[in-house]
Amino acid sequence: MSDIDATSHDCACDDVSKTGACGGPIGELMESKASRRSFLKGVVASGATVSGSGYMFRHAVGEAEAATGNVDRLVTLKVNGQARKIDVAPHETLANTLRNKLGLTGTKLGCDRGECGACTVIVGKTTYYSCTTLTHTVRDQEITTIEGLAKADGTLHPVQAAFIEELGPQCGFCTPGQIMSAVALLQSNPKPSVDQVRRAMSGNLCRCGSYDHYLKSVMRAVGRA
Ligand code: FES
Ligand code: FES
Repeated sequence: MSDIDATSHDCACDDVSKTGACGGPIGELMESKASRRSFLKGVVASGATVSGSGYMFRHAVGEAEAATGNVDRLVTLKVNGQARKIDVAPHETLANTLRNKLGLTGTKLGCDRGECGACTVIVGKTTYYSCTTLTHTVRDQEITTIEGLAKADGTLHPVQAAFIEELGPQCGFCTPGQIMSAVALLQSNPKPSVDQVRRAMSGNLCRCGSYDHYLKSVMRAVGRA
């Protein structure tokens, strides 16, 4: 597919003060001459977006553990093939641990209440909403985040590559969660039907409405992942 005009799509951000149809951080990024395809590559490789959460969900992430004080457990987490020993409070969520303690900010926080799927990671072979998963409950289990999909040499996972080829994301905020759900699906069912993909992705909301692009992306990855 050829590159498209970055200002021609309907972004979910509601800041129309900027030039073009898309204001906000994405518009600024596009205006900075980054190509849409290179932007998408950043999104699908590491979940990197430009402070999208503030625009997209008006949600304050700030979850430093200061409020509750005592950390009373030393837990080993196996994240993206590495064992990480870390102090976690009993009530600490996996999303918080990943983002704020391990620096894995590719996992996004949207609703923070188990509704949108932006925080989806894979634990073992199952997708989890990390915002509603207590960290200590997944200790010693294999956790995969968006940062763990590409190979060490930078080669993208086939699902990531397919998302770029289909120009799946719009703003990219939901993309890491969408990709994790797609990867988990293809691990358990390498040749799903369109309806099976729809059902598997139904726990991932997209405020930009890129559902058809995501569906095509996953179908494009069938047989490659
Ligand atoms: S942030 Fe929405 S389901 Fe976790
Ligand atoms: S929320 Fe913007 S691409 Fe899904």
